[in-house]
Amino acid sequence: MLETLEARTSMPAMQLVEPAPTQAQLERILHVGLTAPDHASMRPWRFITIRGDARNKLGEVFAAAAIKDNPDMPDEKIARVRQKPLRSPLIVVIVATITADHPKTPEIEQILSAGAATTLIQLAATASGFGSIWLSGPNAYFPDVKAALGVAPTDHIVGFVYMGTPAKAAVPKPRPVLQDHLSEWLAPL
Ligand SMILES: Cc1cc2nc3c(=O)[nH]c(=O)nc-3n(C[C@H](O)[C@H](O)[C@H](O)COP(=O)(O)O)c2cc1C
Repeated sequence: MLETLEARTSMPAMQLVEPAPTQAQLERILHVGLTAPDHASMRPWRFITIRGDARNKLGEVFAAAAIKDNPDMPDEKIARVRQKPLRSPLIVVIVATITADHPKTPEIEQILSAGAATTLIQLAATASGFGSIWLSGPNAYFPDVKAALGVAPTDHIVGFVYMGTPAKAAVPKPRPVLQDHLSEWLAPL
């Protein structure tokens, strides 16, 4: 288990190819997402899967949003934006569904819970033999992209997890040195 956790490495979306997880595999992966720590049992997350031709439609949504944001965007750049969803066979959009002014759980905790769900989904994908990468970029924030995906303006697209079979073995990455991120509080008097 620890070796699987330590070995998780994001793969470039272009290197995630068919086959995507089967429906049964995907549901198991997403079930792991549902175990995310969740203050006050709010279940502040929603997962949207995008496969097949729907990825072309999402590319059109991305391109229209990019043009609206920058009407002078060169055609080659627009073409690249349009192709983005086609890089991997499956995209899981993770949405933080926000309850404003909750008495126990401020918005940041709801977003953190959705982020935890995203990481758990990536780990479950790894444990199932698939690769993934968590991407955001401007498409996570453009109001027209949110609207097209049925995401309320007050909710947040936490990420697009691109998923598929790694085209080649993941190269282990150098990881940060623990001591640079660790201290012990010695409770000074
Ligand atoms: C909220 C969030 C958004 C991210 N968005 C992007 C992105 O748009 N583009 C990108 O190249 N990496 C993005 N990343 C980083 C990758 O998912 C990945 O973590 C990074 O490439 C390091 O690889 P590793 O997961 O193997 O450590 C994002 C990560 C997080 C947590």
